[in-house]
Amino acid sequence: MLIKQTLGHVLSDNPKIKALALKVSAYPDFLRFQERFAVPELISGEAREKRNKLFQVVSDQEGLSTIPLRYFEFGVHEGASLNWWLETNQNPASRFFGFDSFEGLPEDWSRTKQAGYFSTNLKTPETDDARIDFVPGWFHRTLPLMLQELETEDRTVIHLDADLYRSTIYPLLLIGSHLKDGDILIFDEFLDSSHEFRAFDDASSIFNWGFEVLAATQQFAQVAIKLKIAEAPVWRRS
Ligand SMILES: C[S@@+](CC[C@H](N)C(=O)[O-])C[C@H]1O[C@@H](n2cnc3c(N)ncnc32)[C@H](O)[C@@H]1O
Repeated sequence: MLIKQTLGHVLSDNPKIKALALKVSAYPDFLRFQERFAVPELISGEAREKRNKLFQVVSDQEGLSTIPLRYFEFGVHEGASLNWWLETNQNPASRFFGFDSFEGLPEDWSRTKQAGYFSTNLKTPETDDARIDFVPGWFHRTLPLMLQELETEDRTVIHLDADLYRSTIYPLLLIGSHLKDGDILIFDEFLDSSHEFRAFDDASSIFNWGFEVLAATQQFAQVAIKLKIAEAPVWRRS
């Protein structure tokens, strides 16, 4: 009991130790996930290159380049990934939503990427594509106002690239009951087992999602997951 209490104090008082403990405790689950959802070939390449290859595999495999697509991105920064999808899918009926504080990360993610990292000083990416709406602000302020945009029969891709546990679990919990069978989640930093992976692991057990891994880059750094959801989303239920 005393050991437990002392350990509890040490962990809660020291953010670095707490972060390390979370990483260590989530890592075995992450390894099990990789074993269980092994894909025939892991995509390799430089950081940006392998991510774009993963997008291409998903888009080709699921036939996403010509259909009306609903694309939500959490973590836009200067718009690199968002632009890939905007350029690849030219269907005029597609809609894209880019969520970001544009003030950078809300808390330290690592020693080199601290609170405020990725700030664009509130500047949104420049584009003349009328299909995109930028939604500036913290997710917990903006997302509740946008949930109706998920009420669509169109194929939906949710790209989670906000790095932190809190910035990934929040969107997942909010959108979870709005998602439908076949919707796709893409994670950009899945490899960080105490952040994006842990958020997906928690959300998938809360919503009891079935899923398949469509594609993954080396070490499961980025993954694309197709949801298998038996229930109708909240907006389609009578
Ligand atoms: C890694 S960057 C996104 C990179 C981008 N997808 C790309 O392809 O270059 C992460 C972004 O998430 C945003 N972010 C993280 N947590 C957030 C939150 N809770 N609310 C709003 N924005 C957040 C940061 O401002 C940052 O721009």
